[in-house]
Amino acid sequence: MKVIKAKDYADLSRKAANIISAQVIMNPKCVLGLATGSSPIGTYKQLIEWYNKDDVDFSGVTSVNLDEYVGLPEGHEQSYRSFMEETFFKHININPASTFLPDGNVEDLEKECARYDNLITDLGGIDIQILGLGHNGHIGFNEPDDAFEKMTNIVDLGETTIQANARFFASEEEVPKKAITMGIRAIMQAKKIILVVNGNDKYDILKKALTGAITPHVPASVLQLHADLTVIYCCDQEI
Ligand code: GLP
Repeated sequence: MKVIKAKDYADLSRKAANIISAQVIMNPKCVLGLATGSSPIGTYKQLIEWYNKDDVDFSGVTSVNLDEYVGLPEGHEQSYRSFMEETFFKHININPASTFLPDGNVEDLEKECARYDNLITDLGGIDIQILGLGHNGHIGFNEPDDAFEKMTNIVDLGETTIQANARFFASEEEVPKKAITMGIRAIMQAKKIILVVNGNDKYDILKKALTGAITPHVPASVLQLHADLTVIYCCDQEI
């Protein structure tokens, strides 16, 4: 595991974007595993800047996102599809048909979970996965549980997650109570993982995830077992 303390959020974003752009330059047909949340926004901004300077070309890239809310109407501005379109996809030259997210609006959600796992397998797996960290240690929407959920699955969002995500909605009641998330298996099978963590409020959970026991009660702790994990964080204290 490589752990890098960034000077500030811009430094964190540039460092993460550097690793991703190097991947795209070395393998223009790579599969990027992408994340939502506020942490990677700066990374996407930096990548867009380099795209605009012609330094990186996304035309051959495929993307698979970690998760999506269940039940938000198509086009809802807080759906993760809309978030990705607005913060990243519409600013770069990725082929829209090569951008994948789980669909939280289908009738048969179990079938959708299987479809998403098969899709990732058919793509040959994920070359590089970017992850944020939830306050309760979640990655994607894999919430603390008694067992690691291996496959894409439907989750009941925990209270802290609903509260944390309420800032994006008009009220807490509007936050969906369920989501569909890539499982731990596909995440752990990514050839490379970058975990980006910003802010002192994440310090305790980051420390627990990286140095504490490996337990499904802290889902991100499983990352200790990954062979190529880079953690880039920005907190006052050192891990
Ligand atoms: C959401 C997403 C996660 C993300 C987390 C942290 O719940 N499903 O993938 O990592 O929030 O978000 P933030 O980066 O805004 O703290």
